[in-house]
Amino acid sequence: MENFEINGVNGLFGEVNISGAKNAAVAILPAAILADDVVRIENIPNIADVSFVIKILSRMGAQIKLINKNTIEIDSRPLAYQSVPYELTSRFRASYYLIGAMLGRFKKAQVSMPGGCYFGDRPIDQHIKGFEMLGAKVEVQNGMVCTSADKLIGASIYMDVVSVGATINVMLAAVLARGLTIIENAAKEPHIVDLANFLNSMGADVRGAGTDVIKIRGVESLHSCTYSIIPDQIEAGTYMVAAAACGGDVVIKNVIPKHLESISAKLIEAGATVIEYDDAVRVTRWKPLNKCNVKTMPHPGFPTDMQPQMVVLLSISAGTSIMTEAVWENRYQYVNQLLRMGANIQVDGRVAVIEGVDCLTGATVWATDLRAGAAMVIAGLVAKGKTVVENIKLIDRGYENIVDKLQALGADIRRVSAADEDAHIINVG
Ligand code: EPU
Repeated sequence: MENFEINGVNGLFGEVNISGAKNAAVAILPAAILADDVVRIENIPNIADVSFVIKILSRMGAQIKLINKNTIEIDSRPLAYQSVPYELTSRFRASYYLIGAMLGRFKKAQVSMPGGCYFGDRPIDQHIKGFEMLGAKVEVQNGMVCTSADKLIGASIYMDVVSVGATINVMLAAVLARGLTIIENAAKEPHIVDLANFLNSMGADVRGAGTDVIKIRGVESLHSCTYSIIPDQIEAGTYMVAAAACGGDVVIKNVIPKHLESISAKLIEAGATVIEYDDAVRVTRWKPLNKCNVKTMPHPGFPTDMQPQMVVLLSISAGTSIMTEAVWENRYQYVNQLLRMGANIQVDGRVAVIEGVDCLTGATVWATDLRAGAAMVIAGLVAKGKTVVENIKLIDRGYENIVDKLQALGADIRRVSAADEDAHIINVG
């Protein structure tokens, strides 16, 4: 068991390179099994969630060749149909993309209901509705999603909620279906566009990704390609918020600035300066932070995956800020940890009222989920004194080399072995 030990700093300075997008990688890797050929994928983030997917594909018989730490080749010709048990899916949410990918390839799939970060109910009714409309039978039995179809036939599918996962899963199942599939009220996140570009590089016919309506004309088969994953919007946003919260001058490189506009806008409103370059953004902040109100929304709105990090920044911004979480019903579980550091935050349902304090003070805190863990790291960087962040395996699920990247910016952070595991038991309660 390991922890992060962090001492507060007086600013972050320098450059940080952003890795490939986690939420694109966990969709693109399963999508590779739709091709009858070798697929080379570059700019894959070296993080735990990606290792889980690679492990599952390999267990299913795909041949995985590691070209370097961020590039792999997947030959899924030898991959055989099999059910995917809970011990493989329990650790991460995106394991449900195996349902769409296997349904597309084998016309059947049996995958255990996924695990992943908990922030309230995480239903998959829209995924199931999409598969059914393509002609598949779907049953949930003994914790497994079991689906099969004689053939998949394109259909017009209206999503009742804007869902990243359901949009991706239907895309995966539909690329090899017969005829035209239309997804209406589709999610528009950058990783939806990235998946569409990847599928098209393999010979699929997907149009409209990035808008509310995605049209997929089924093709007979998919072929080999080389594809490079987009930079991670949320990793970039996390370093932007860290720079603005700590103060200083940080250039965040290898990003698509357009994907960061909602985050830049709120940081500017709170008192930071953000300058956009072709593939970098520079965040500087010299003057005190001030309040601002934020509401999370599906893309292009402010991302829910940036909500905890932004709440940390607002907790040291002068005045009263309101955060409204409009995507997940219960994504404030981490707030208790911030209260232990001296933050003044009141949560009522989906709304958090944040009274800015002069400073946070170091404490031992627990990463309640991946993004909340990143928020605890930022809180540790801005706090006076020493902070210990526990349960960092959740942070490792989504942030490549976070310690090295922050140290290069002048942060005082290190990974240490937890001396006393009993401390965790007390903390979990
Ligand atoms: N929803 C339904 N029915 C469904 C699916 C979703 O009601 O069938 C609801 C959810 O309950 C939620 C909303 O729709 O209220 C949005 O959920 P969505 O399906 O978009 O989320 P997801 O696909 O499960 C992905 C990311 C999350 C991110 C959300 C929202 C991946 C692997 N995960 O989850 O990322 O918070 O989209 O942007 O792409 C993270 O990276 O830390 C993370 C949690």
